Amino acid sequence: MTDARFPFPIPFGWFCVGQPGEFEAGTPRALYYLATHLVGWRDDAGALHVQDAFCPHLGAHLGHGGKVDDGCITCPFHGWKFDAEGANVAIPYSERLNRKARLRTYPVVEVNGLAFVWYHPDETVAPMWELPALPECDDDEEWVPVLSTSYEIGTTWQEMAENGVDSAHFRYVHNTATVPELDSYDTSTFPVAAMRSSQKFQTPRGIVEGRIDSTSYGPGMSAVHFSGFADLLNLAVTTPIERDRCIIRFNFRVKSLGDAKMTQGVGQAFANEVHKQVLEDKVIWEHKAHLVRPALADTDGPVMKFRKWCTQFYAEGVDEGDERTVFTPPWWPDRADEAPAKATASARIEG
Ligand code: FES
Ligand SMILES: [Fe+2]
Repeated sequence: MTDARFPFPIPFGWFCVGQPGEFEAGTPRALYYLATHLVGWRDDAGALHVQDAFCPHLGAHLGHGGKVDDGCITCPFHGWKFDAEGANVAIPYSERLNRKARLRTYPVVEVNGLAFVWYHPDETVAPMWELPALPECDDDEEWVPVLSTSYEIGTTWQEMAENGVDSAHFRYVHNTATVPELDSYDTSTFPVAAMRSSQKFQTPRGIVEGRIDSTSYGPGMSAVHFSGFADLLNLAVTTPIERDRCIIRFNFRVKSLGDAKMTQGVGQAFANEVHKQVLEDKVIWEHKAHLVRPALADTDGPVMKFRKWCTQFYAEGVDEGDERTVFTPPWWPDRADEAPAKATASARIEG
């Protein structure tokens, strides 16, 4: 036994900090991700910047009253000004600058309708890969955005992502009639993990042969394609809030079926099913232990291969103890009766 909830530090990678529209030019926003207080601000030229929130002068939070002008952010406390690289460019009541006063600045990309920052515990490490712009997310009318959802979950990114390779849980947690059959799972090209699987989908018109193909680009972004009854994309992005707490955002798109109402209807039904599944998974995730050496069946998915892929993103190392170590959750007396099936009694979202 150990006191730590999980053996994993916060991984490095690209992590979603919201949708581009949440950052209006000129209005800084306070953010909290990666166990770090951050400020996000868009300059007048339209570029988004994300920096550490606390002013190096006397520690004011730049997201609470900071002013944006001239491609710089000005602190609300004593008016010190910082540029988009984090350098101090003005102290209004002094002739001199303070060259040591610097804000940590995170590389930012806006792609696939989302804003991402590059995080690495060593700030001198530049982004090690790029996030691809997915053809399903460009502006043509072939693929239609349906809706986006988000969930805060009391677990790590890795425990949530392990669900993808855990084919057996679909039947028992989610009551699906069939489980995905793994065709291949390829982790040979850093930072990608690509899973290809076949799945029979239960539809109103009977059983349909389909596919679930997911491609993860590091820990922060996975594109999950469903095909068979329709072509659907769930762009799933996970951001650690702290070591043991994450936000996962799902962004659903459907390949147009011609009729706009039908397209939205299919997307909505799909999003509802995923919504139900997350509420079920959440109960398992938050109450489960992390076992360093799980007891696996020969027909389980590639759990250990998945975990090995994850390990590459932990620059600070993983402290697992020995293989018998059990990482357990706290005991919450008021949550003693939680169970997956109860979580979804009234689960439904509307777009
Ligand atoms: S704390 Fe920011 S200028 Fe003083
Ligand atoms: Fe699940």
